[in-house]
Amino acid sequence: MREAILLVGGQGTRLRPLTINTPKPMLPVAGVPFTVHQILRARDAGVTRIVLATSYKADVFADFLSNSELGAADSGIDIVIATEDEPLGTGGAIRYASSFLTSAPTDSVIVFNGDVLTGLDINALVHHHEQTNSDVTLYLTKVSDPRAYGLVPTDPTGRVLQFLEKPQTPEEIVTDQINAGCYVFTRSVIDRIPPGRPVSVERETFPELLAQSRLVSGVVDQGYWLDLGTPLAFVQGSVDLVRGIAPSPAVIAPGESLILAGAIVDPTAVISDGTTLGVNARVGVDSIVSGSVVFAGAVIGDHCVIRNSIIGEGAVIGDHCIIDGSVIGDHSQVGAHNELREGVRVWVDSVIPELSVRFSSDQ
Ligand code: GDD
Ligand code: MG
Repeated sequence: MREAILLVGGQGTRLRPLTINTPKPMLPVAGVPFTVHQILRARDAGVTRIVLATSYKADVFADFLSNSELGAADSGIDIVIATEDEPLGTGGAIRYASSFLTSAPTDSVIVFNGDVLTGLDINALVHHHEQTNSDVTLYLTKVSDPRAYGLVPTDPTGRVLQFLEKPQTPEEIVTDQINAGCYVFTRSVIDRIPPGRPVSVERETFPELLAQSRLVSGVVDQGYWLDLGTPLAFVQGSVDLVRGIAPSPAVIAPGESLILAGAIVDPTAVISDGTTLGVNARVGVDSIVSGSVVFAGAVIGDHCVIRNSIIGEGAVIGDHCIIDGSVIGDHSQVGAHNELREGVRVWVDSVIPELSVRFSSDQ
């Protein structure tokens, strides 16, 4: 019996408006909700029971599992949903979810952030934790700009020296090693997290353990790693999964694009660079869709160029549009001839009128 907790209760603020209707871990990535990639990777690493620590839009997870083979008794992994009444933060969520575990105090419990795409050898992390008799073992990676993450300097033996969540000043940037969002806890350490109130493992639990000189270890793994928390990273993660650059048991046949059931592509259109076209999506004459994610039922008109963008569920893009590095919310309508570039976000259910051809040719 190997147990894990998957933290999936965040609001996904940086991915709005995509997360208005769907919690971040349930957004489709390479054809299935991101959570499915993570659950299958955990199962393949020998996890037999996983608690989904939910809060924001918890019902979406429950609905999905009740209709999915993953939720069936013979799926090879027992999935339990724990729902906080109020968001309890990462530490509070781990503490609450632990009441659904059966592990003994000395057992190892794996904890995953719900938005991290990685090829980490999960068993090697558990092995390191148990060999070193650590209280907590953190998976670390190195990035060129660590400011958006938890900074984790270690000594030459791998002992964690400090945990600095999202440093605010240049002096705090003491390392390029970051918390990569997967931990092994000895169960008794989770039991000491205060129950019933918000706790951040990053800002409270880890610094406290270090102040008490408890053994917190770090394992640096330089394999594939991506936090899918922003639109650009979300598109990148999806593209990398479709092309087989990022590993997932849920991607059976990597390729240049993934076109799901019922999607209709005009023979003159080009779908490339790791694009996913969702169920029943449509792409019109001479359009190019490259390095993008098009959700179910979205319609892209004729002569469009869509690059590095996310087109929400049921959104309609008129003819001759250029959409580059942008996010279009679910069920929005973008009229013909619009050009949306570099970070534009269109809210859900919006209507952007057609840009008159006469106006654009006058420019
Ligand atoms: N159940 C529950 N309840 N889950 C939560 C809550 C909560 O109140 N708050 C956040 N989570 C979940 C999110 O759904 C996500 O899966 C995970 O906790 C981390 O939250 P993020 O919002 O994605 O945090 P981050 O990306 O800014 O930073 C975290 O991840 C980085 C690596 O990707 C931190 O752990 C950093 O230290 C780390 O470097
Ligand atoms: Mg994140």
